[in-house]
Amino acid sequence: LLKILICLGMGYCFGCFSTAYVIGRANNIDIRQYGSGNAGTTNALRTLGWRAGLLTFLGDAMKAIIPILLVYLVLYTKEPSVKLLALYAGLGVVLGHNFPFWLHFKGGKGIAATAGVMLAFDLRLGLLACAVFCLIVLITRYVSLGSLLISLLFPIWVLVLYTGNIHMLIVSGIFTISAFIKHQSNLKRLISGTENKLGQKVKVK
Ligand code: G3P
Repeated sequence: LLKILICLGMGYCFGCFSTAYVIGRANNIDIRQYGSGNAGTTNALRTLGWRAGLLTFLGDAMKAIIPILLVYLVLYTKEPSVKLLALYAGLGVVLGHNFPFWLHFKGGKGIAATAGVMLAFDLRLGLLACAVFCLIVLITRYVSLGSLLISLLFPIWVLVLYTGNIHMLIVSGIFTISAFIKHQSNLKRLISGTENKLGQKVKVK
């Protein structure tokens, strides 16, 4: 239990670094007051352009990859459940990203961070998720639909790749629940056909 708490805590600290917020501040705006109000890749892209979007994605994915690599580095030879602890570290990152204490717990939706978790947790799974995400977004131009779909598939892929590991299944399922909770407004817009499409821009004063 102590190791789980340490991984969660370490992940949370990394997750609290909100790349979109920092890039927004560097451009003299609080990104949470523009576009969808989300401190994430998609909103950085629509508000500040593709460079900001790309940087946000890389920053948010890296802040998940680094603590997971640290878990591997410290525990690799000694700990058989290292993959499970990596998932917990990743969960901490997503929680820190979504609820950063220094931004009054108003952060992002955790998808770029989850992509980083998937890539570092299991490269096959991560690459598959990226491919599915890109395909959905290319076809529909709805980023949120791609985000929700890979979040939904995460525990299913974990079940297939790590058969019988119920603990891993539950932890990956928490990523899914968190993503759906955070995407409630996107879901409503998707259902009513009013969701923002990729490429739509927002004017910054
Ligand atoms: O990863 C966030 C994305 O799925 C939706 O972002 O800004 O359109 O709510 P946004």
